[in-house]
Amino acid sequence: MSGPLAGQIALVTGGADGIGRAIAAALASEGARVVIADRSPPEKIAEAVRTIEAAGGEALGHTVDVSSEDAVLGLFAEIGRRFGRLDVLVNNAGILVEKPLLETTLADFDRVIGVNLRGAFIVGREALRLMTKQKSGRVINIASELAYLGRADLSVYCASKGGIISMTRAWAREFAPAILVNAIAPGPTATAMLGPETMSPEMLASETRIPLGRIAEPAEIAAAAVFLSGPGATFMTGQCISPNGGAVML
Ligand code: NAI
Repeated sequence: MSGPLAGQIALVTGGADGIGRAIAAALASEGARVVIADRSPPEKIAEAVRTIEAAGGEALGHTVDVSSEDAVLGLFAEIGRRFGRLDVLVNNAGILVEKPLLETTLADFDRVIGVNLRGAFIVGREALRLMTKQKSGRVINIASELAYLGRADLSVYCASKGGIISMTRAWAREFAPAILVNAIAPGPTATAMLGPETMSPEMLASETRIPLGRIAEPAEIAAAAVFLSGPGATFMTGQCISPNGGAVML
């Protein structure tokens, strides 16, 4: 497919559903060949790939748990074999455990940090290894508005996303000027993780009491990833852009 990302290889973790799926589709529609890396059952990953192909794009699915170093090394071995390069990484895979702190176990902590921060670290390190060799690339880490706001019963999730923003800034400095590293901190977005159907009426009311008065669609977050991947973002690094309907203004 032609477009500003034609000929580029993009990897989207957690690309089988929600925001990641929208990002994978949007990057493919800009011309990128997209690798969707997800721990979902193969048929679900295959469905995301088929949707992209039906729209005229190119995609490849890979089953991987991003918190497993061996699995991520296997993913990069395949990317190396097939493409020999990687132009865009979107570190999107994430989970949350919602519990009061006093009921949160070490296993809960390890699980959330393991996917959201350790997973982004492992995938990011391997992507940056490839990008360093080719002397170019874009890394986009998906954080959350909750990194800024905090939320009761989500402290480990909030900490993981705060870590994502700090890690983004450090990588941006370490890999400049060849590689640009940025983050996106979405507000509440209609997905299985935090969409309206997951919320109590009180939570939904509080989430929509923001200047734009509604929850985002995944495609509205994907638009930020398209910008950060594309030709318009050549002077952006170490930034965290926030499609959040005005919930947080920094
Ligand atoms: P989702 O639950 O709809 O999709 C997450 C995807 O990541 C799924 O396909 C899942 O299989 C995959 N995944 C989960 N753990 C994985 C692992 N260990 N290895 C590989 N893949 C894994 O979630 P959603 O809402 O699309 O979230 C995507 C990202 O956006 C997450 O990092 C989340 O924290 C962040 N975010 C979401 C917001 C929302 O309101 N939905 C708001 C702010 C940030």
